[in-house]
Amino acid sequence: MRTQILQVLRSHSGQYISGEDLSRMLSVSRTAVWKHIQSLKNEGYAIEAHPRLGYTLRQAPDLLLPKEIEACLESQVLGTVIHYFTDVSSTNNEAKKLAADGCPEGTIVVAEAQTVGRGRLSRGWFSPHGKGIWLSVVLRPPFQPQQAPKCTLMAAVAVTKAIRSFCNLPCGIKWPNDILYNGRKLVGILTEMNAEMDAINYIVIGIGINVNTAADEFPPELAEIATSIFAETGEGISRLQLLCRILTELEQVYQQVIQHGFAPILEEWKTLSVTLGQAVNVIGPDEQYSGTAVDIDEDGALLVDTEVGVRKVIAGDVSIRPRVPVQQPANNS
Ligand code: BTN
Repeated sequence: MRTQILQVLRSHSGQYISGEDLSRMLSVSRTAVWKHIQSLKNEGYAIEAHPRLGYTLRQAPDLLLPKEIEACLESQVLGTVIHYFTDVSSTNNEAKKLAADGCPEGTIVVAEAQTVGRGRLSRGWFSPHGKGIWLSVVLRPPFQPQQAPKCTLMAAVAVTKAIRSFCNLPCGIKWPNDILYNGRKLVGILTEMNAEMDAINYIVIGIGINVNTAADEFPPELAEIATSIFAETGEGISRLQLLCRILTELEQVYQQVIQHGFAPILEEWKTLSVTLGQAVNVIGPDEQYSGTAVDIDEDGALLVDTEVGVRKVIAGDVSIRPRVPVQQPANNS
């Protein structure tokens, strides 16, 4: 009922609608309308009540509430089932439980804060309350398990496109899954899979986006390496609208991959990459080496040109080496 009341208030944006009209349109008593309006106010909706004119919605709370997401959602499958938490240990952990219990493809988990947000390589993920998008999406792709790493590349393409178009911020992808602006990390993606030998049961794509975190809110160990959309643009961004844009983009690239395979997405990844052409250090599971990132192959592995030839990076950490300025000879004449 509260979702329907919000729908009516939104469709009368900037105008009042009387309690009587609302009760007639929704076939409930005026007292019931009043009670639902009070509970919406308690949730943070700024609804103004005028004794003669009725109700008008001035502002929705800056929260990723399911009924807010539903109101702006344009995707057909992703986000049609929403699990929302004010605080959760990790949205990926919740999504994995839901997926194991058989939740439908496209189920999403969102939280205002994560207490034990998880990153790649057993790292943590800083997830303060109401400042970012902490999102996990459950997919059940018809691919072979070996194809799963490409889902990370697919998600990175979708999120980069959404941020570029919605926030007008020309960010780029560092292989395989970081989205950077000016060398600092805006977004991290953690993809987790459950599979049989020849079929994927589910994939959880976890996406963490630093949206409205102020530069001085990052802990000291992240201060030099992380950034947020707000810190870079000076503009507060609607997390809700950005989230909906990401779901739309992700659904589009996912459909494209199912219909046409990964090749077009890999080409798009290359155009959005900040890694290709750069001098890189590779920290692999067993060894470290340096070279120049030259390409990604059809499996999404990074190809690095080293002193001993081109090497294929499937897992591990790749850091881009800062360019050392060429020293000019002193001119004392
Ligand atoms: C990384 O760059 O190391 C990946 C970070 C992924 C963070 C997101 S936030 C939502 C989801 N839940 C988690 O616990 N982690 C991912």
